[in-house]
Amino acid sequence: MSDKIDTHTIHSMELGPMENFVYLIHDHATDTAAIVDPAWDVEKMLEFADDKGIRITDVLLTHSHHDHINGLQQTLEHSDANVHLLKPEAKFWGENLAAPKLHHGGDQIKIGDSQINILHTPGHTPGSACYHVGNDLIAGDTLFVFGCGRCDMTGGDPEEMFQTLKKMKSGLPSTTILHPGHNYAPQSPTSTMENQCQGNPFLHFENPADFVKYRMHIHDKIRDTPYDAISQEQARKAIE
Ligand SMILES: [Fe+2]
Repeated sequence: MSDKIDTHTIHSMELGPMENFVYLIHDHATDTAAIVDPAWDVEKMLEFADDKGIRITDVLLTHSHHDHINGLQQTLEHSDANVHLLKPEAKFWGENLAAPKLHHGGDQIKIGDSQINILHTPGHTPGSACYHVGNDLIAGDTLFVFGCGRCDMTGGDPEEMFQTLKKMKSGLPSTTILHPGHNYAPQSPTSTMENQCQGNPFLHFENPADFVKYRMHIHDKIRDTPYDAISQEQARKAIE
């Protein structure tokens, strides 16, 4: 654990019929915040921010699927915020957004004193992003607790997802707290990368062909939400 005092707090709300999480990255020093994936009853999060005296200055999108962005207009009517997403996602989406800030993987955004690193994590969509702030990772539909995003919809690519998850597995500290885009967890809605490396089947496969087989042909037939942990041995057996 770091002994550095966090500059921020992550507030989360599970909203809508698809167990989506809407997050607020609240910077303590300035009482400003970024809202991530504003959707569904987003007014609940906007009211929460108002009640706490938090000003929303930025909107971060993990990707452009309807269940993650259907509260965007309402959010922009409430707050005069900048909208951030990755350039390949904007291209994939094709939406005519008013002056969005388009990023590349590796870019950084500052909300007050809180620095947010943007990871390009393609696989679920071409321009999916994860937002890494302090020890927290807001992962959208890239990584769920013991699951990962579908790769069979338009713009999905299971081989890219394999590479994305491999990089996340090796690149993120084991103590990183995962905040997923949907609540598919068996108990606590968050987890650590360490627990995911132990029990997330999508982090168990060592070659892309096995991963693709499991993601595209096996997973949906043998598992349902909430997802339990799966050992590496169980994952290996599942693709035999
Ligand atoms: Fe999605």
